Amino acid sequence: MPHKIILDCDPGHDDAIALMLAHGNPDIELLAVTTVVGNQTLDKVTRNALGVARVAGLHGIPIAAGCPRPLVREVATSPEIHGESGLDGPVLPEPTTALDPRHAVDLIIETVMAHEPQTVTLVPTGGLTNIAMAVRREPRLAERVKEVVLMGGGYHVGNYSAVAEFNIAIDPEAAHIVFNEPWPVVMVGLDLTHQALATPEVVKRIAAVDTTASRFVVELLEFFGTMYRQAQGFDAPPVHDPCAVAYVIDPSIVRTRKAPVNIELAGLLTTGMTVTDFRAPAPPGCHTAVATELDHQRFWDLIVDALARIGDVPL
Ligand code: BDR
Ligand code: CA
Repeated sequence: MPHKIILDCDPGHDDAIALMLAHGNPDIELLAVTTVVGNQTLDKVTRNALGVARVAGLHGIPIAAGCPRPLVREVATSPEIHGESGLDGPVLPEPTTALDPRHAVDLIIETVMAHEPQTVTLVPTGGLTNIAMAVRREPRLAERVKEVVLMGGGYHVGNYSAVAEFNIAIDPEAAHIVFNEPWPVVMVGLDLTHQALATPEVVKRIAAVDTTASRFVVELLEFFGTMYRQAQGFDAPPVHDPCAVAYVIDPSIVRTRKAPVNIELAGLLTTGMTVTDFRAPAPPGCHTAVATELDHQRFWDLIVDALARIGDVPL
């Protein structure tokens, strides 16, 4: 049985690759794609999601736009990594699918409630605004959702600040809600995603697939690589968001460790930090786990395989 997921994203170069992995992998059933303000404004990331869906040949599932700003804070985007469009680099084709008229928060709730309990996994790869709104609006989601596997946070380093990661830092109040609901949460944070480097060998493997989608991904990675080199001094860019999808496909690719995690909301220097308590074995009933170690080879095998399965989509 494939794993049913809702991808809540802010495309974003790595979100786009997460979407392609979710669509191209046979062990995932993508129920819906929802967008949230993050890497760029909501209108831009939503347009990007629709354009990527076209490149990937993704039809027949709802794509809906969600929250245009965080719960409490002002909008903060990431043009220094993702450019002015949120997906600079390749030419994005005009979308051919219409946006679902529902609000993403309603779509998330309706989709989860329409499926058997414990069968739908939420995969947020942007700020957690939509997910927090959904669980406040429909508290039964907390026991209905199978688990929340999110890209965000980190127990070691930050990228938005010294200790806070972008997806958590842009809406820490939403993250606080999500981490404090009793559903299982797997935090696929920077400790893990900084191991998912798109090295020149990786880019060569993707290029060898030689399809519209793979060429698009190569162009994404070229732009992403340049920005990461300039902004953060990386030799090869860390491709964060597909790591969360990879965990859902095959948890043996991403080693995790149970530990209590909470979100700093009041820090002078540390707001948005995912404070992870490793002092002792996780207490009984601990519902949070953090990703620690990536099987780099098998992770990239999954991406290459998904692109090959997507095939040459005519544009
Ligand atoms: C996260 O922030 C965004 O820029 C990326 O898409 C990823 O979700 C990494 O910190
Ligand atoms: Ca993202």
